[in-house]
Amino acid sequence: MTLQQNNTEFEEFASDVARCLASKSKYLSPKYLYDKIGSQLFEQICLQPEYYLTRTEASILNKHAPLISKLAGSNMKIIELGSGSSSKTAILLSYLSSQKKKIYYFPIDISSSILIESERKLKSQFPNASIIGIRSDYGTGIDRAAAECMAIGNKNNNISYTKLVLFLGSTIGNFELIEARSLLRSVREKLHTNDFLLIGFDLQKDESVLNAAYNDKAGMTAKFNLNLLARINRELGGNLDPRKFEHCAFYSDERHRIEMHLVSKTDQKLYIGALGKTFALRKGENIHTENSYKYNSSQIVALAEDCGFTVKKNFTDEKRWFDLALFSPS
Ligand code: AVI
Repeated sequence: MTLQQNNTEFEEFASDVARCLASKSKYLSPKYLYDKIGSQLFEQICLQPEYYLTRTEASILNKHAPLISKLAGSNMKIIELGSGSSSKTAILLSYLSSQKKKIYYFPIDISSSILIESERKLKSQFPNASIIGIRSDYGTGIDRAAAECMAIGNKNNNISYTKLVLFLGSTIGNFELIEARSLLRSVREKLHTNDFLLIGFDLQKDESVLNAAYNDKAGMTAKFNLNLLARINRELGGNLDPRKFEHCAFYSDERHRIEMHLVSKTDQKLYIGALGKTFALRKGENIHTENSYKYNSSQIVALAEDCGFTVKKNFTDEKRWFDLALFSPS
């Protein structure tokens, strides 16, 4: 990461925290949950028995990798938005490698340490793969990945390659609808008519299942949420005491989303060194840290159509808890 990027990120974080704490309804973007510690905690959440999302999506990929790759053209350059540890993508790459297909993989992630580590692992698992990590946010990342694909060319050894963009893990659910549309439209701009987009959607289901997934017994989701306060202390010189806050996550049936909040247990004053400011928080006041939208099939179709795609196929599990939807440009 360059010094300039560091400074811009620091300034953006500081000004977002200032705006959040000064406003009546306090909201911070969920992207701030993912510093190094937050990303590690998220990996732990994925292993919790209540957090069915990762396991279910992986089982769908395991079962349907052959059909997904057949529909997507068999010879693909795979671009992944928010690749993280790439562990689920490795399922698809394994299948392609078992079919003796040449692997081109462009993981895009904001964290350079995660990219380096996943690249190292994948290289040892798939020694002949071309893996080009792109440290970036999604918008710029997709532009850069498309440019890399173009530079390699659509034809190698007389084989035509299509692009398959992956957006797994229900990360789309952390976007407001307007943001999700804008991201998918920018992806659509980079695709040709024979390319594909595979998106993981968490589906609407019994509230008790959803509430349990975001309130795991081991307290990993709580730690993940509370780490945001510790991050403010570490990076912005705050004096926030995580013990004075409570993790709160609940399903809103009306909005079809899990909301995650940090609730103040007491009247308190929060000092942020980098801002040179103190903010007051009343007992019961909360900082809204994440929304996680749960979709139904007609919402998925509507989103696809709004962004210039049609749904080619839905891959779901037996309980219909999760949907891996294959979109093709319309
Ligand atoms: C990354 N994202 C899809 C997760 C979710 O389920 O919304 C983040 C998360 N938040 C709490 N637990 C997991």
